[in-house]
Amino acid sequence: MQDRPNRPGGAGATHADFFNIENLKPPEKPPQRSFIPFEAGDEEGGEESLLTCADGRTWKLSLGPYCEGVWRIRLAGAMPADDGTSQGSRHIPSSWAVLPPDDIDAGMPAYEGAAPILDGTEVRSGNCFIGDWKYSESALRFSMRIRTGSRRASGNMRVFGLGEKMGLLERSGRVWEMWNTDEPVQTPTQDPLYVSIPFVLCRMDMQWFGLFVDNPARQYWDTRDCERGKITVDAEDGYLDIYLVRGDGPREIVRRYTALTGLPPLPPLWSLGYHQSRYSYMNQQEVVDTAAQFRANDLPADVIHLDIDYMDGYRVFTWDPERFPEPETMCRELHAMGFRVVTIVDPGVKCDRDYSVYSEGEKKGFFCLLPDGTVYRGSVWPGTASFPDFSRKDVRTWWAEQHVELFSAGVAGIWNDMNEPADFTGNPVYRPDFTVPDELQVQNEGEPGDFRRFHNLYGSAMNAAAREAFEIHRPEERGFIISRAGYAGVQRFAGIWTGDNTSWWEHLAAEIPMILNLGISGIALTGADVGGFQEDASAQLYARWFAFGAFTPYFRNHTEKGTAAHEPWTFGAQTLEIARHYLRLRYALLPYLYTAFYQASSAGEPVVKPLLFEWPDDQRLETMDNQYLFGDAFMVAPVVRPNKIRRDVYLPEGRWYGFWDDTVEEGETDLLAPAPITRLPLWVRGGSIIPHEEPRLHTDEARSSVLLVDIYPDSTGAAEGLLYADDEEGWEYRSGVYCLLRFSYSMNTLTIEMKHRGFHPQWDTLEVHLHRGSHRRPEDGSSRSGSTADPLRLDSDHMELPRPFAGGGAGVSTFSYPFKAGSMRLD
Ligand code: GLC
Repeated sequence: MQDRPNRPGGAGATHADFFNIENLKPPEKPPQRSFIPFEAGDEEGGEESLLTCADGRTWKLSLGPYCEGVWRIRLAGAMPADDGTSQGSRHIPSSWAVLPPDDIDAGMPAYEGAAPILDGTEVRSGNCFIGDWKYSESALRFSMRIRTGSRRASGNMRVFGLGEKMGLLERSGRVWEMWNTDEPVQTPTQDPLYVSIPFVLCRMDMQWFGLFVDNPARQYWDTRDCERGKITVDAEDGYLDIYLVRGDGPREIVRRYTALTGLPPLPPLWSLGYHQSRYSYMNQQEVVDTAAQFRANDLPADVIHLDIDYMDGYRVFTWDPERFPEPETMCRELHAMGFRVVTIVDPGVKCDRDYSVYSEGEKKGFFCLLPDGTVYRGSVWPGTASFPDFSRKDVRTWWAEQHVELFSAGVAGIWNDMNEPADFTGNPVYRPDFTVPDELQVQNEGEPGDFRRFHNLYGSAMNAAAREAFEIHRPEERGFIISRAGYAGVQRFAGIWTGDNTSWWEHLAAEIPMILNLGISGIALTGADVGGFQEDASAQLYARWFAFGAFTPYFRNHTEKGTAAHEPWTFGAQTLEIARHYLRLRYALLPYLYTAFYQASSAGEPVVKPLLFEWPDDQRLETMDNQYLFGDAFMVAPVVRPNKIRRDVYLPEGRWYGFWDDTVEEGETDLLAPAPITRLPLWVRGGSIIPHEEPRLHTDEARSSVLLVDIYPDSTGAAEGLLYADDEEGWEYRSGVYCLLRFSYSMNTLTIEMKHRGFHPQWDTLEVHLHRGSHRRPEDGSSRSGSTADPLRLDSDHMELPRPFAGGGAGVSTFSYPFKAGSMRLD
């Protein structure tokens, strides 16, 4: 195994170095600064106020509607206008995150409540107040508070979101830092990680708000006073653009925030299949053989990833001539087996004048510069490396063009890594400094500045370049980009995978709140390395993680150099069977999952979401980080602890059906659900209609002409569901070439309504399963198991796999019809 310089302690570091406390720069959270408060100036009024500091500086505070349900509050240094009569504000760089109001997809319901008002130094919306402005030489600070009538009663506040963070679903009780960091030691309180999204969804007493602070400089969010109704934000910059988002509850607020920062493109269907990766498949034969093993084991899969060893000496956009001599042939062979190839791309370009990407980039002046105007040289996988200045349009286009080396060989997707950016010459122990120097100069489209202000944007800008690569080289394709780093709005270009986790049960558990909060923060395409990246997974951990991974938006197995194999067949026959079972289920549900992604790309709806989206008044759900909704119909309660044969579950209001046995429960109920190793605890929400199909081995394989539809009526006997279908690739859906069907069921009649008819789906027959469910016998919390067999054993001869959709067993009636719009009786 080669050196891993991006490990604590750096290249060649020993365990002792890692724990050498001398190496640690003490994190200052937030740094101790003396802030000067503002007061209202003389010229306040209307939508603008002038604020004055004790030191005499003036600032302009303005409030204005931005788009439906969203208001912008801007604080910037005031400047005397030419005529001396009024005041303008200092220049604010254009936003990378927020779309111009005219480009924001409408279709959002009107905001019914009163507009916020600017009152002296404060913005007020209901009982929420934004103000308490302060500044220091290096930062601006403000607070958002609840003010209740009584002096003694303080309001109660709960916050969610903040992008990719360790910890729980609810984010109160600490200071969070916004600074993209290559952090492989993901202990429970480690912060920051790779992605910075300064957005919270917030409940203040009984009202919901969204708060987005659009400033890519370092920020600190202090949520320690949430119980006293207050959060405080510092941004290390000289302006603040704050967006206050209002709406009718969490779902609408998140949809509005996502529309504000840009809806994600619809991923091609193949990218919602299974992805296999490892660091690294070392030569092209190994890649082809791995793919062949999937087919030999009858395992559905669509994608194989190539980590850095496909490159020639880690030179980005090259192929190793010895180990990958014929990438085109390899991609062709893989394609013939139904596999697409995704290659990793790192931003650090090896400083080697005989290498065209470097020599051209250097000649054109495309790399980030030191303040003295020389090219900065850091160090990444290839050794000494320079970093393209992605803040420039011409550099992004140049980078996009380089992808031809990959695309011409047949690569279908791009995996952007190390784009915080990680730099091994930084501090290997205090990881926020494991990056390029803050003093580097970036051009930022005529709005130059130092890297400090661009750091959090670097990953997003690299992803924008990769998007452009698809536009240039593969204009007919939607492209697929998955990234490690990003800032608010990154969803317009790429999905996010959660980086270097470990094969720990704790990381399996941590993934749930992490992807839920990423969803709240606008990113629908998310997932973690299934099985864990660092260390070796046990068979039990792997089986549990695999089943859960099938119910995450991005489903990829990956592991690092030097670990045991993590392919599904490497843990024995039983684990392989479990993996196959959940792969088949994932593939069966692709029509349903694709529809959920349609809702993400058309309306900003997350694909996985916390239960509080549906039941915002049920306060138990605000701390529920081990159960979630996958699309609208499934509630998933993964087993995230070792050696458990049951899982405690809370079912919120409404009727619920056990997915494997059709037992019916009425919420609000707590129960202890059986969870043998083969079973992912899964419920279907009563009132749902789920479209699915026979699983295929990959998404290019011919599909069955039968669309399966399972109906789970609610307590009134009604149900509904959606189905979106299109070409599964290409952009024609954007000009209406798709179909959207609405299924509704009541009084024994299923109605299919064509909401949009722009495409003919491939199914011609409809097979309908109507679930009636069976009521569970009342339990007193204990039950006889009737067996002493170990339900977790992965080496026994006999393994009973649970039956999806209750296997069409007792209580399920089946009907068959031609697949077309209209009504049909189901009796
Ligand atoms: C980083 C990535 C990891 C990858 C490795 C080598 O650690 O997060 O996924 O395997 O680099 O490229």
